[in-house]
Amino acid sequence: MPIPVILDCDPGHDDVFAIWLAAGHPEIDLRAITTVGGNGRLSHTTYNARVVAGLAGVTKVPIAAGAPGPLMRALSPAEWIHGGNALGGPELPVPEVEADPRPAIELIRDTLDAAAEDVTIVATGPLTNIAMFARIYPDRLSKVREIVWMGGSTGRGNVTPYAEFNAWCDPEAAAIVLESGPPFTMIGLNVTHQALVTREVIARIGAVGTRAAAFGVELLSFYNSTYETDQGMPEAPLHDPIAVALVAEPTLVTTVRTRVDVELDGTETAGATSVDLLGKLKREPNARVATGLDVPRFWELLEQAMRSLA
Ligand code: BDR
Ligand code: CA
Repeated sequence: MPIPVILDCDPGHDDVFAIWLAAGHPEIDLRAITTVGGNGRLSHTTYNARVVAGLAGVTKVPIAAGAPGPLMRALSPAEWIHGGNALGGPELPVPEVEADPRPAIELIRDTLDAAAEDVTIVATGPLTNIAMFARIYPDRLSKVREIVWMGGSTGRGNVTPYAEFNAWCDPEAAAIVLESGPPFTMIGLNVTHQALVTREVIARIGAVGTRAAAFGVELLSFYNSTYETDQGMPEAPLHDPIAVALVAEPTLVTTVRTRVDVELDGTETAGATSVDLLGKLKREPNARVATGLDVPRFWELLEQAMRSLA
């Protein structure tokens, strides 16, 4: 039986591939998509989710908008990577999919209530929606099988020296979700920086030959160009679909159980994830943290999923 999944995201170039992988992988039953302010303002991330779902023929999965910005901080959209509309590069077609009228946390609640089995939440943006859900519907958390998050890092950051963007954007939300109860898995930059968008990757996606694939190629070209300018990386890391890949094929990502804490203060360190790989803090592990990735298999999975979509 495919694993029921709710995908909470902020598309964003790499989030798009997370949506497509979740929709196209046979081991995943994508039940809902929720959006959050992060890479772009909520109006953009929601619009973008609708555009890319429609482009790939994913028309039956409800898409609901969530929190416009972090719990306690101002939103600084990652325009330097994703452009002013969070999906720079291609011209965006008019979305073929309407937004669901429910707020994201109500769609999450209803999806959990309707499911016969426990549901996995994959989050590829700031954890604001999931933290709000945990605070408002704590009684529903028992229906969450696992929360798998692309965010954080065991090492250095990408938006400040120590903080990764999703953690930096809403560190309070990440701290709340980490302690909320369901098993938590973190896939950070230490692993996602292995999945680089090389010329071969772009050619492979292009060869899929669908409308979505052609759109994806334009996205990836833009994404590589901003990564080169901002991070000195002409081959950008495709972070977000790795979180989906771990759910679809658990052996694809190596993980360890350890202690993760999120820095909330500090002049330069807010949003840094402290990952106690050596067990120095002698505190109970509260997360699984990704440490390795089968890179060829990951691209294989993504290509196969895209071939199965419109
Ligand atoms: C994360 O931040 C965003 O820019 C990406 O979509 C990804 O979720 C990487 O730090
Ligand atoms: Ca994202």
